[in-house]
This record gives sequence, C-alpha cells and structure tokens, in this order.
Amino acid sequence: MEPPSALSRGGRVPWQELLLAVSLLTFWNPPTTAQVTVESVPPNAAEGKDVLLRVHNLPANLIGFGWFKGTTIDPHREIVSYAADLQEITPGFAHSGRETLYHNGSLLFQNISLEDTGYYTLQIIKRNVQVERLTGQLRVYQPVSQPSINISNTTATEHKDSVVLTCSTNNTGVSIWWFFNNQSLKLTERMKLSPDNSTLTIDPVRREDAGDYQCEVSNPVSSSKSDLVKLNVEYDFTQQSSGLSAGAIAGIVIGVLAGVALIAALLYFLCNRKSGGTSDLRDLTEHKLSASNHSQDHSDNVHNKTDEVAYSSLNFNVQAPKKSASASPPLTATETVYSEVQKK
Ligand SMILES: *[C@@H]1O[C@H](CO)[C@@H](O)[C@H](O)[C@H]1NC(C)=O
Ligand SMILES: *[C@@H]1O[C@H](CO)[C@@H](O)[C@H](O)[C@H]1NC(C)=O
Ligand SMILES: *[C@@H]1O[C@H](CO)[C@@H](O)[C@H](O)[C@H]1NC(C)=O
Ligand SMILES: *[C@@H]1O[C@H](CO)[C@@H](O)[C@H](O)[C@H]1NC(C)=O
Ligand SMILES: *[C@@H]1O[C@H](CO)[C@@H](O)[C@H](O)[C@H]1NC(C)=O
Ligand SMILES: *[C@@H]1O[C@H](CO)[C@@H](O)[C@H](O)[C@H]1NC(C)=O
Ligand SMILES: *[C@@H]1O[C@H](CO)[C@@H](O)[C@H](O)[C@H]1NC(C)=O
Repeated sequence: MEPPSALSRGGRVPWQELLLAVSLLTFWNPPTTAQVTVESVPPNAAEGKDVLLRVHNLPANLIGFGWFKGTTIDPHREIVSYAADLQEITPGFAHSGRETLYHNGSLLFQNISLEDTGYYTLQIIKRNVQVERLTGQLRVYQPVSQPSINISNTTATEHKDSVVLTCSTNNTGVSIWWFFNNQSLKLTERMKLSPDNSTLTIDPVRREDAGDYQCEVSNPVSSSKSDLVKLNVEYDFTQQSSGLSAGAIAGIVIGVLAGVALIAALLYFLCNRKSGGTSDLRDLTEHKLSASNHSQDHSDNVHNKTDEVAYSSLNFNVQAPKKSASASPPLTATETVYSEVQKK
C-alpha cells in the first residue's frame, strides 16, 4: 500500500503510470500468500454432533502438517500427521478414533464430547523448512435439560407479602430467562433478579403480578423451559394500606349518591311537567320561556343552571294547584319568575 501513497504525494500522476503501478503491485503481492486460518464449523457444537476444524488457504509447497491437542507442540499430544510426499496420514498418541484428517488440512471430529472442548494447534512444515503454527478452538455444549421452578408461596397478599421464585438447572454455563403469562417478563422496580438470574424476588406483590411464571435455561446450542407455576394474589381489605384507594371509594360513593339525587330531581321535574302540560296556554308560556332561554347568553345559562332547575320545580309546584282555575294567573306567575331568571 506504500507505493500508491508515495506516488500521489509526488503531485499529478498520469493515468497510464497509475495503471502500471497498480499492475506491478498485483505482481508483488500475489494472492497465493494469503494467510492460513482455522475456523470451527459450527462455531458452537452440541455434544454428540460432528464439528470440522476447517483450514483455509493451506500452502501448496508442503513437506507435511500435524494436528496437536492444546496450544503447544507436544509429540504426546499429536492427534494426526500428514506427509505430503508419501500422501500418508498417521494417527498420533492423542487420536481417539473419532478424528478424520483431510488432505486440505481440515480435521473432522465425530460424535464430539464435552472433553473435546479446548484448543487445537496445526503445525505446517513448508518446503523451505519454514514452520507455521495456527491454533483453533472447539466449543462443545451439552444440550440443556429441563429446569425446575419453585415458588416460595403460590398465594400472596397484595402490598404485604413477597414471593421468591427459584429456577434450578443441572447445566453449567447457561443463561436463565423468565417468562410471565408466556411472555418475556418485564421487570418492575419491585422485582429483583440474582446475579445469575436463578432467583426472582417480587417485593411487595401486587395484583398485576398474579399469573403464570416460567423460567428458561439456554446455551448456544439449546434451550429448555420449566413447567408453569401460578401465583395467586389476594387483597387484604382490613389493611387498606393505601389512603388513595379509600379516598377513591369515598369519591365513588359520593358520585353515585349525587347521580341518584340528580336523576330523582329530573324525574320529579318531568312528572310535574307532564301532569301540568294539559293547558294550551301554559304550553305557550313554556315555549316562550324556552325560546327566550335559547336567546340568552350561553355562559349565563351555565352559571344559573342550578338556580333555574330549582326555580322550575318551584314554578310548577305553584302552578299545579291553579291548573283547574283560569289560565291567566299561571301565565303571570311564570312570566314574573322568568324575568327573575333572566336578570341573573
Ligand atoms: C477440506 O475437505 C473437507 C472434506 O472434503 C471439506 O469438508 C472442507 O470444506 C475442505 N476445506 C476447505 C477449506 O475447502
Ligand atoms: C458417542 O459417544 C458417546 C460417548 O461419548 C457414546 O456413548 C455413543 O455411543 C457415541 N455415539 C456414536 C453414534 O458413536
Ligand atoms: C420449593 O419451595 C418450598 C417452599 O419454600 C419448599 O418447601 C420446597 O422444598 C421447595 N422445593 C424444591 C424442589 O426446592
Ligand atoms: C403462604 O401464604 C399463606 C397466605 O398468605 C399463608 O397462610 C401460608 O402460611 C404461606 N405459606 C408459606 C409456606 O409461607
Ligand atoms: C438434576 O440431576 C439429578 C440427578 O442427576 C436429578 O434428580 C434432578 O431432577 C435434576 N434436576 C434438574 C433440574 O434437571
Ligand atoms: C439475566 O436476564 C437478563 C434479561 O432479563 C439478561 O439480559 C441477562 O443477560 C441475564 N443474565 C444471565 C447471567 O443470564
Ligand atoms: C401459556 O401457554 C400454556 C401452554 O402453551 C397454556 O396452557 C397457558 O394457558 C398459557 N398461559 C397464558 C396466560 O396465556
């Protein structure tokens, strides 16, 4: 990469010269010198499965190569070796019978076990007697077994009790996750997890915590969920620990009473109105009254609403006994009080 930057530092570079420089560079850096690498396929293997330590870019000019268990070259830990001239594969001391070496350098492990976890080193000897060493890693995991879940008490009292849920697993190196009503648990400030997530504490319990709990253990190759445990939450009415809820109840009671009173007043008003509605003249007055009301200022109407209702009942109370008599007195009575309303 140095030559191009040196060229550009020199100022203007003709296109032809740049092309030539690039093609020369390609000559100087042939792709055959690409680095040898080792890759585990798959990167995380499940116990009992096969895994390949795949070698990329194995050089061509070889005397041979050998695979060793561990990170050092120890003849006693040689798994297998290959001599290029004889094209001969020779098992070493550390060969278990489950490893297969390919001519391209890759090493296959069959029916892998937990003990196979670890580092493996490939030593390559070239024609020029240069030696190259590469290390790869095998990660083997046991498929997890089902965890068990335990709850300190399946019934708890709201605002008072705490509960502790415990997830037990026989597998090591696992992650633990919690589920509530079949969904990933959303932690609230009342919930605490132990550092390894195996214990969930809810303190204090609230009614929204009632439901099904479940834990899941997982590692890179598998996962398993526990059975469900159900948490029941009871309300302790003698406690009334929350002043707010007591106030809310009082508010609801007052609201209901007020509503009942209002409906009663309305019904009373309507009954009176019906019984007094036989007189044509009174109807006319009423229309006049309502018409004027419409023309009145709206805010005025709102302000005096209660007064008007009170007045209306009074008005019809007064009017009712006089119904059988002449039509004119109710009219004047209505008009008098109406003008009062309008004044307000
Ligand atoms: C080497 O050979 C094995 C077996 O044929 C094959 O699975 C693997 O992919 C080869 N490795 C490379 C880097 O091509
Ligand atoms: C795989 O290895 C285990 C011991 O690690 C053995 O019990 C089992 O029989 C082997 N399975 C096969 C298919 O070879
Ligand atoms: C579950 O928890 C209860 C109450 O704490 C306890 O009595 C019981 O032994 C626990 N069971 C297991 C399997 O841990
Ligand atoms: C579970 O909770 C109930 C009600 O709160 C209580 O009576 C019982 O003693 C508790 N049991 C345990 C094992 O804590
Ligand atoms: C753990 O293993 C023991 C015996 O090996 C078994 O009794 C127990 O049920 C297992 N527990 C879990 C959570 O798998
Ligand atoms: C614990 O659970 C949280 C999610 O609730 C997760 O992000 C974290 O990785 C878990 N830790 C362990 C050690 O399992
Ligand atoms: C969660 O799922 C299980 C089985 O899949 C089911 O029996 C249970 O009723 C579900 N619980 C909720 C709260 O959806």
